[in-house]
Amino acid sequence: MQQYVLVEVVLGLVGLVGAAALGTWLVRRALRPLDDVAAAAGRVSELELARGEIDTIPRVPDDLTDGRTEVGQVGSALNRMLQNVEASLVARHESETQVRRFVADASHELRTPLASIRGYAELVRRSPDVVPPDTARALDRIESEAVRMTGLVEDLLLLARLDAGRPLDREPVDLAALAVDAVTDAHAAGPGHDWGLELPGGEDPDDVDLHVTGDEASLRQVLANLLANARTHTPPGTRVDVRVRDEDGSVVVEVADAGPGIAPALRPVLFRRFARGDEARNRAGGSTGLGLAIVDAIVAAHGGTITVTSATADDPGPTGTTVAVRLPRA
Ligand SMILES: Nc1ncnc2c1ncn2[C@@H]1O[C@H](COP(=O)(O)OP(=O)(O)OP(=O)(O)O)[C@@H](O)[C@H]1O
Ligand SMILES: [Mg+2]
Repeated sequence: MQQYVLVEVVLGLVGLVGAAALGTWLVRRALRPLDDVAAAAGRVSELELARGEIDTIPRVPDDLTDGRTEVGQVGSALNRMLQNVEASLVARHESETQVRRFVADASHELRTPLASIRGYAELVRRSPDVVPPDTARALDRIESEAVRMTGLVEDLLLLARLDAGRPLDREPVDLAALAVDAVTDAHAAGPGHDWGLELPGGEDPDDVDLHVTGDEASLRQVLANLLANARTHTPPGTRVDVRVRDEDGSVVVEVADAGPGIAPALRPVLFRRFARGDEARNRAGGSTGLGLAIVDAIVAAHGGTITVTSATADDPGPTGTTVAVRLPRA
């Protein structure tokens, strides 16, 4: 009897362990396709969907979308969702492209009539007939506003092109040389300011390589915009220092002024299009609030970064603004 019970218990245990092992194996085998479904979802999550143009989103393989199994149902539901996401992203990208193209085309089309307006105004101004003073003043205004609008249209066109991701030139550009030119121009445009330029010192300035790879005309514009800000948003007599230096693998261009600083409310939106300070808005001409948006877009297209530090009279310490542009060295 005792032996009989022992055999029963042992056989029972063996059967139990065997059944557990077989069950585990069967469940694992049935759910193994889920790993593949999870892997497909993982691949999608690694895509940069926010970055404009997308290629097709990878799908769950067809053999895992059999609607008769639970795993297949998950797979085919996932595929339907991916299909929907892909279609929406493509539609959004198309409408963005359309808007960009519209802005670019509109700016481009506006150039010709603007050039005509400027040309005719100049023609009348130069004509030997004497015009009454009121008319002369009106013509002057027409001309200066046409010049202003041309600048605005050029800025919009440039931004539209940068948005479209149009490839920039990739040539070696010497930032030290650009800084020298930019400060010389700024000197001519704002003789009332106190301009300073600091390049890496030493006996032989050629020792320090301040070349970056990029588009020379765009990088010139970055410096011109920053120096224009230091000139137009600070009172005459303000000290403005431009420094170019080499800093662990990057070239840093810094424009530092001792002006009144940027209002705290404006700082977080400084790089937004048409964001400008109240003083700029109230002033009669010139300011549109596109300057720093353009700087930001150009620097980003070169793989660089910008930092702005600014202090107004409300902040402790001296007032002033420093904009530092950091670009990877060639
Ligand atoms: N160096 C500075 N000192 C004080 N305020 C500044 C300085 N630079 C920029 N700002 C403020 O930031 C705003 C945005 O500058 P941004 O260059 O983008 O536009 P803007 O100079 O007003 O117009 P635009 O450059 O298109 O002619 C300016 O309106 C001004 O209020
Ligand atoms: Mg500006």
